[in-house]
Amino acid sequence: MLWVKAFHVIFMVTWFAGLFYLPRLFVYHAMSDDAISNERFKIMERKLFYGIMTPGALITIALGLWMLHAYAWEAYKGEMWLHMKLTLVLLLIGYHAWCWKLVNDFKHDRNSKSHVFYRWFNEAPVLALIGIVLLVYIRP
Ligand code: HEM
Repeated sequence: MLWVKAFHVIFMVTWFAGLFYLPRLFVYHAMSDDAISNERFKIMERKLFYGIMTPGALITIALGLWMLHAYAWEAYKGEMWLHMKLTLVLLLIGYHAWCWKLVNDFKHDRNSKSHVFYRWFNEAPVLALIGIVLLVYIRP
């Protein structure tokens, strides 16, 4: 199970690399106004979302569910930190789905949001990461 936990954390880092960088690409994409940049950002967004972020998310979630099933649910189901962590993870999955919608909006040249919006949008995964890591390690 220590191997599973280690790879859970490794793929969580992969997932977060995308959660931090994709909205940053949206910031630059929303500021760009020439066709070459537009096409280049579309490729970068597609590869990051489908090649790195989504596999990272799926494997992190699969390994987390594996640990829950194997021992962690029985051990911690009475503890608040686990329920709060899982709630934050659900919000993160919602954020991931929103990113998917935004990647598609850019792909079809129908982005309607400003770079300022994406700068704020970029902060949400930071809060989720701080929240989840504090819950997992401090277990308040
Ligand atoms: C559906 C998604 C997830 C599930 C079901 C899940 C479940 C779990 C479980 C059962 C453990 C083992 C707890 C223990 O034995 O102490 C664990 C460990 C951990 N999880 Fe998750 N997790 C999920 C997503 C995430 C995400 C998104 C993050 C980061 C933002 C994360 C961060 C961690 C960390 C850092 C540990 C290691 C704790 C340690 O070193 O002991 N998990 N997770």
